[in-house]
Amino acid sequence: MRRQITHPGSGQLRYMIREIVEFGRKVQALGRPIIWENIGDPVRKGEAPPDWIRAIVGELAAGEESYAYSDTQGVPATREFLASRANDRLEPASTTGNGERPGVESGARIDADDIIFFNGLGDAVSKIFGQLRAQARVIGPSPAYSTHSSAEAAHSGYEHLTYRLDPDRGWLPDLDELENTVRYNPSIAGILIINPDNPTGAVYPRDVLERFVEIARRHNLFIICDETYAHVVYGGAHETHLNQIIGDVPGIAMRSISKEVPWPGARCGWIEVYNRKSDPDFDGYVESLIAAKRLEVCSTTLPQLAIPRIMGDPRYVEHLDTRNAEYDARAGETMEALGGLDALRVNRPRGGFFITPVFDAGALPPDGVLPIEEPDIRALVEEKVQSAEPDARFVYYLLGATGVCVVPLSGFCSQLDGFRLTLLETSDDVRSRALQAIASSVQEYCSAARGRPAVEEAALARD
Ligand SMILES: Cc1ncc(COP(=O)(O)O)c(C=O)c1O
Repeated sequence: MRRQITHPGSGQLRYMIREIVEFGRKVQALGRPIIWENIGDPVRKGEAPPDWIRAIVGELAAGEESYAYSDTQGVPATREFLASRANDRLEPASTTGNGERPGVESGARIDADDIIFFNGLGDAVSKIFGQLRAQARVIGPSPAYSTHSSAEAAHSGYEHLTYRLDPDRGWLPDLDELENTVRYNPSIAGILIINPDNPTGAVYPRDVLERFVEIARRHNLFIICDETYAHVVYGGAHETHLNQIIGDVPGIAMRSISKEVPWPGARCGWIEVYNRKSDPDFDGYVESLIAAKRLEVCSTTLPQLAIPRIMGDPRYVEHLDTRNAEYDARAGETMEALGGLDALRVNRPRGGFFITPVFDAGALPPDGVLPIEEPDIRALVEEKVQSAEPDARFVYYLLGATGVCVVPLSGFCSQLDGFRLTLLETSDDVRSRALQAIASSVQEYCSAARGRPAVEEAALARD
């Protein structure tokens, strides 16, 4: 080309969750049935929304309004409904004896104008980072959800900046490290939190979230909190929403119907903006998000119309509770299958759809293999692992040998070796086969690093 046309950040656009599919399909084409454990789509795993939700969508599809454009920020009645739900989450403002409000309130109230709809949070993520000045960086968790980390890296043209989530402390963030990085890196303008987290399944306690807010307040930063899984919480964890604790710090919460309805194909998510007017620069930035959306006219109308009818229905809470109980039971099953393995550290998830076992240091042999009988599949895997990270090597062998498709942790902007699988499989039989295949493959693959065959190890364990 006369001028170079590729954006300098284009190399940062990686999404291993879907990249692995390409390889999985090749293995499938050679005759191996695949158990897809890579993507967080409950519908693909057999969990379509219940009939009453589908009836609402059907009625709306029969009406005229669904076929029209909506306002740029989204359907006004839906934004009012969501703003009032957000405000309902706040504790009543405490007052002093003489009726005055004390100091800074812990919560932030919003109205319909503080809500902006997008075509899924994927769209929101690309606008949020796309509209940010390239020199203004947002630090996010590692492991990272790749849509955020790739978009932030691409906007800045550098590798994504991260703070560490610690698998030895239930995947809690290292907040001292975060504050140090923020202190010595003046380009950092914002902190990204994902709560409940993808891929770790951690749900942050209120005091941890409050510390994030304190750091943001001390260093004059804004907060982005991805709350996609805010209502997918179980195992005794409590949901704390950003608007309950953000006080006067500028912030954005990202929410979606993809996972909780679940309706990922609707491509419908929204952001709630807190304390927009507290800082003129933040205010201008939010205006630029709306302007970017205006160029596209608006987001899809039908799912927005459905939100108040679905979420306002008395059956919705029960629907969420039933699903959460299922995820909790599957988290327990997965812990039973993988939690006791020598080579792995596994934290029980308390929210979201995922569990991410981490390999102990030194557990992965650099030249590890799993037996694959079919020569064509073996050749495909052997070629693929030539330049693979150690955990990706395990994942490709697992896929070739057993058909179970998980995602390597190195694909989530992480220095740790591990893999992510879902809690979504609805068939008891398929789930149990997948877990057994993963457990025996981990043992077999890692036995080479310990210098003994897996069978002998198992015998030793029994003795
Ligand atoms: C943490 C997180 N944020 C955002 C998204 C994107 O969701 P949406 O379907 O709304 O684009 C996902 C999807 O998996 C996710 O896990």
